[in-house]
Amino acid sequence: MKKIDDVSTVNELVFSALTENDLQEWFQDIYYRINDEHEYDDSGNIAFLPLSRLNSRQERLECRDILSDVIDSGFFTSGPYIGEIEERLRSFYDAHTCIATSSGTDALIIALKSIGVGPGDEVIVPLNSFAATENSVMAVGAVPVFANIDTSFNMLPDEIERLRTPRTKAVLPVCLYGSCQHIRATYRVAHEANISVIIDAAQCFGIRSLINHCDLLSLSFNPYKNIGTFGKSGAVLTRSAVLARLARQYSYHGFAEGKKNKKAQDWGLNSRMDNMQAATLSVKLRHFDNNAKKRCLLAARYYLLLADLCHKISLPSEKNENTWHLFPILLREGDRASLFGFASERGVELDIYYPSLSHSGEHPLAIGYSCPEQFSASERIHSALFHLPLHNHMSFQEQNSISEVLHDYFQ
Ligand SMILES: Cc1ncc(COP(=O)(O)O)c(C=O)c1O
Repeated sequence: MKKIDDVSTVNELVFSALTENDLQEWFQDIYYRINDEHEYDDSGNIAFLPLSRLNSRQERLECRDILSDVIDSGFFTSGPYIGEIEERLRSFYDAHTCIATSSGTDALIIALKSIGVGPGDEVIVPLNSFAATENSVMAVGAVPVFANIDTSFNMLPDEIERLRTPRTKAVLPVCLYGSCQHIRATYRVAHEANISVIIDAAQCFGIRSLINHCDLLSLSFNPYKNIGTFGKSGAVLTRSAVLARLARQYSYHGFAEGKKNKKAQDWGLNSRMDNMQAATLSVKLRHFDNNAKKRCLLAARYYLLLADLCHKISLPSEKNENTWHLFPILLREGDRASLFGFASERGVELDIYYPSLSHSGEHPLAIGYSCPEQFSASERIHSALFHLPLHNHMSFQEQNSISEVLHDYFQ
């Protein structure tokens, strides 16, 4: 089976392009396919993430075929595709073990349980992630302690020193929007302080080096991710044989490896990936390289198209270690609401991920750790944030229209 490419190597190439002509010349296959795809209908409005275009025609066709085989086989829960994709993912990251899970959230819970996080412990998390990050911490009875971010949108490594206490059991950085900025430094600081690191890479599948900067790596393959299945699924990976054994146990009722239905070692979840989802993931993995290249191209095109607006907006700072799950922008000038209204009138949907920061929630476990004054810098950054559409099956024509709308707004 073909090896999956590392996304950072694609970024190195796309971001060395000085003009669109360079990109067209180097990625003729992608440009050709886009022009050839009759599903790219540029006549209508530009939705942020149109659900009917989550999968290309070809992906849908192949998934229908494979799902039909699974239906005939009766292997709905455990089954052959699970082992296949676990080995593919393990080998891509050069990990000791990959455990395919029923969601990215469960992957996080399994990872936290594997390093022994429980009631009374604290876990440092960024304050701007999807709720799953802090919820997984609370699901094991621990307290999420929110860390400030900077304009990379990732948590600041220095926050570990400020926030750590004798109860700090783990740090859970998130590669938000696909960017790995600060992840190495976060691991270095945590490692020196003897604190375990779980990376929430739900938005960042495809950067191989991440596995070297954590104890466990957590992925999501829900349908909205860069590589999404036809339902919920995820994975947890580790380089450690000991953590691998524990993670496997916690992923399925506490049974030791190879001892299903024999006496459990400890309690465990019912969180293995279904064979149905594994089958669709095996199809999506075949298309991953092309889709990842496409995202990198779209990102590089945004930089080229919007270069002259640099005094009005700032574009993401991490170009190499980035899977471009979302394309975040910081507004330097102008007003977000008026920009959103202007774009909407022109048929372009902009969005903000995520609209509110975690410390504004009312989780009883986190209250007392969330004094708002300490987050004013993060709040300032967050108040200037918005996202442009970017997905696997967006056309370059649509992207040109988005650029035109931004230029017209700022002129
Ligand atoms: C940063 C982050 N962490 C965790 C998750 C949880 O993944 P899932 O939806 O597969 O449970 C998501 C995705 O929704 C996410 O974006």
